[in-house]
Amino acid sequence: MVKLTGYKKVKTAIFISGTGSNLKSLIKFSKTNKSPISINLIISNNRRAKGLKLAKLNQIKKKVFNFEKKRKTENQILSILKEHKIKIICLAGFMKILSRNFIKKFSGKILNIHPSLLPKYKGLNTHERALNNNEKYSGCTVHFVNSKIDSGKIILQKKIKISKNETKETLAKKVLVQEHKIYPKAILKMFNL
Ligand code: GRF
Repeated sequence: MVKLTGYKKVKTAIFISGTGSNLKSLIKFSKTNKSPISINLIISNNRRAKGLKLAKLNQIKKKVFNFEKKRKTENQILSILKEHKIKIICLAGFMKILSRNFIKKFSGKILNIHPSLLPKYKGLNTHERALNNNEKYSGCTVHFVNSKIDSGKIILQKKIKISKNETKETLAKKVLVQEHKIYPKAILKMFNL
């Protein structure tokens, strides 16, 4: 459990690669009184990530790294995280795999959101695979990150029903709506709030 010290919000970095709709929902949450976190840094591996626009809009510092040399990049990220006194990392549609060494440095402090009911459908193309298997339900999961992909301890899940004529697009939309709700809830839960 992460303990809250005093009334100061815990400095958090969000890692993104794309649209950033989860980032948007986390920014909104972070500005509420009940949020134990503030968002102080946005990191992306993709300079074209739409979500990066939210940095300027919300006056949050952003940094882009190309990850060509992973070890070097991760060390650069670790030092910028230190510089900004970041204590928690939320992965939100971040498409790079962090090394065991990096994760160890933030052990128990990195969260991820995944669009399936883990442990089912780890990895990519979750909605397509759930539909191909005729699943009746799908959903999303917020979990701690460990060195195995999408396998860390689950913090919170939301289950949704798959409709008769569901497509991977409609399912993705439905799940995303729930993602925006459970990520903030999972953060509250992580802080025992
Ligand atoms: C979400 O479905 C998330 O679960 C997955 O990638 C998507 C990111 O969407 N890992 P966004 O960039 O937050 O809009």
